[in-house]
Amino acid sequence: MGEQPVNGGGRIELQALSKWYGSQHVLDAIDLVIEPGEFFSLLGPSGCGKTTTLRLIGGFEEIEHGAVRIDGVDMRGVPPERRPVNTVFQSYALFPHKTVADNVAFGLRFQPGTKAETARRVGEALELVRLNGYEARKPHQLSGGQQQRVALARSLVLRPKVLLLDEPLGALDAKLRRVLQVELRALHREVGITFVYVTHDQEEALTMSDRLAVMNTGRVEQVGAPRDVYDEPANKYVADFLGLANLLPATADVGGVDLLGARIAAATGSTTGACTVLVRPERMQLVPPDSGQLRCSVEHVVFAGAATHVHLRSGEHVLQAVVPNDGSPLAAVEGGEVGVDLPPDALRVLAD
Ligand SMILES: Nc1ncnc2c1ncn2[C@@H]1O[C@H](COP(=O)(O)OP(=O)(O)OP(=O)(O)O)[C@@H](O)[C@H]1O
Ligand SMILES: [Mg+2]
Repeated sequence: MGEQPVNGGGRIELQALSKWYGSQHVLDAIDLVIEPGEFFSLLGPSGCGKTTTLRLIGGFEEIEHGAVRIDGVDMRGVPPERRPVNTVFQSYALFPHKTVADNVAFGLRFQPGTKAETARRVGEALELVRLNGYEARKPHQLSGGQQQRVALARSLVLRPKVLLLDEPLGALDAKLRRVLQVELRALHREVGITFVYVTHDQEEALTMSDRLAVMNTGRVEQVGAPRDVYDEPANKYVADFLGLANLLPATADVGGVDLLGARIAAATGSTTGACTVLVRPERMQLVPPDSGQLRCSVEHVVFAGAATHVHLRSGEHVLQAVVPNDGSPLAAVEGGEVGVDLPPDALRVLAD
């Protein structure tokens, strides 16, 4: 293993960062601190401002309102090549006629060195992405995943303190994505720098990130560790965006909720009156019809490999349960009735 291009991770601070395109308010006073060495994801639907945020950090977009600081230094007016940051774009834009080695060396264009020094640094970067031995190939002689790894090496060869990744796996098929997700995670640990990762894929953000920010039309709705944001979403938007969610109208008082005609114990916090209850499908416990807290009709039972998805109905409300296929008999039969138990800690009460 060669010397690693480790530089420590940069700390990124966004303060009241706003962006307008014409009259469109694309980023609305974003406040965010990304700690040194974190794998931090920006997650949100198309058009919510993820790429714009990255471009402001990377220096491809002028900072007009608010501030971007990296390791305490204000980045306003600092050109991209003078920032301790590098970017991997979704379309990895390799030069088709250059070899793998020359594509990676292109990353060093702002830091020219001797030929030997360049070759050494290119070799190290290729080793990081497990592509030694591919130096002389052209991009068309590589798979999509290998091309993306060349793009990563080209960014890492500069030894940035921060790597910005804009949907870097977006062009790859599902299976290859999963392989590269694991590799990227390992690479992050190895280089020890800060990764800011943009994705609209919630599973990707949940599995890869130390922390993530859920964005919605130019705002940050919630920031936290994947498990915290998934288990304790701050609002309906976050609950709905992250994973499958049963969101049901209810009435809360101290110690519980009235939900679909049943009284159910739950931690209601300071919420009382009309509210929305979140139950993740995997927390719905299916039991015989007469023994559950709720009684539902079973509309569909869908086998999905590792789990079975059960679509339920209670009056006008449709619910979903996900039951692991662990060998135990399933209480639900299509067209029949089933009971549902909701453990108190499975309910999250969201103020309306
Ligand atoms: N150069 C531009 N001029 C005008 N509007 C722009 C420009 N770039 C982006 N926008 C608008 O700003 C908003 C945010 O765009 P952005 O590219 O940051 O979204 P995104 O979250 O990255 O979306 P996606 O997941 O589709 O890549 C969108 O409504 C987009 O149309
Ligand atoms: Mg984008």
